[in-house]
Amino acid sequence: MILASSLAEKLTLPVMQAPMFLISGPDMVVNACRAGIIGSFPTQNARTPEILDQWLSEISNRLAQQQISTPWAVNLITHPTYARGKDDFEMILKHKPPIVITALGSPAALVEEVHNYGGIVLADVINPSYAKKAAAAKVDGLVLVSTGAGGHTGYLSPFVFVQEIRKFWQGLIVLGGGIGSGKAVLAAQAMGADIAYLGTRFIPTHESLCQTEYKQMVVDSCSDDVVVSDAITGVKANWLRQSLINGGYNPDKMPSAANINFASAAGAENKRWKDIWAAGQGVASSTEIQTISEIVATLSEEYQSSLTNLLDKQKHSAQPLNTEELQ
Ligand SMILES: Cc1cc2nc3c(=O)[nH]c(=O)nc-3n(C[C@H](O)[C@H](O)[C@H](O)COP(=O)(O)O)c2cc1C
Repeated sequence: MILASSLAEKLTLPVMQAPMFLISGPDMVVNACRAGIIGSFPTQNARTPEILDQWLSEISNRLAQQQISTPWAVNLITHPTYARGKDDFEMILKHKPPIVITALGSPAALVEEVHNYGGIVLADVINPSYAKKAAAAKVDGLVLVSTGAGGHTGYLSPFVFVQEIRKFWQGLIVLGGGIGSGKAVLAAQAMGADIAYLGTRFIPTHESLCQTEYKQMVVDSCSDDVVVSDAITGVKANWLRQSLINGGYNPDKMPSAANINFASAAGAENKRWKDIWAAGQGVASSTEIQTISEIVATLSEEYQSSLTNLLDKQKHSAQPLNTEELQ
């Protein structure tokens, strides 16, 4: 069993490529792991449990063949309306991915079974009360989704969120929401998180399953072009302004909340996300369509140089104050 407390030590950079509906699949997971960060995908990206079965085998086999030991993750919707929840979980138990990330519902029903096969469970939460419930369910880590995140978003400032959670939780914290540079990864650690959770930064990649127009719209956008609304799925999510316009919406006058229903990955939910493109406030971090490995190399350089700068600053500020100079 991997230990949540030493997860970051297994990585070249403390980063997880976050699960993204209609975006992340086997190629993204394998190449993220090859680059030394955690790769992940949501089970509903495989259109049926049978395809999920194939994807999980493929990922395990490709990682084994390439002798890659970086942990990887599967994301499961635990909302009661997600019709495939039970079937997908059976596939998880069959293939034993090292990490299971629960979203949009309680992790309680699956923690014990994942622990029994040697996996760990991380719960995606958007506020301290959900975090406390997940902690009570004995999860191994909390994924704090804060404001600005792509797809279903949080609403709390990451500064507030991490600090409050650290008052009662000493375990693993993964922090997401607008993180798109190595500097921001370092900042997440400085705040008290262990691993940064990056979704939007990996949309414009060759490994991404979406169409080129979507990737290009992310590259061409900045935070002004990201609109938060619960009109599409019933849950507050961040969407690209131009895709809302293309889909017949007025981004400045979005309708009221839709009904929450994650019943079918292949049905209405799929169609909504196919036509209206999700992305977070950090879109401007991407300036071209790249490979995962190129992005991880850039993030690593940015992380190292900002760490060096900080240490330099600290060295200078550690000099005793010369009061004579001030007089
Ligand atoms: C296009 C897109 C699809 C997403 N789909 C899922 C999903 O299926 N399951 C999930 O738990 N989170 C999903 N998310 C949220 C991400 O896992 C993560 O919380 C978010 O991307 C982090 O913020 P960032 O986009 O600012 O990096 C999605 C995000 C995006 C951008």
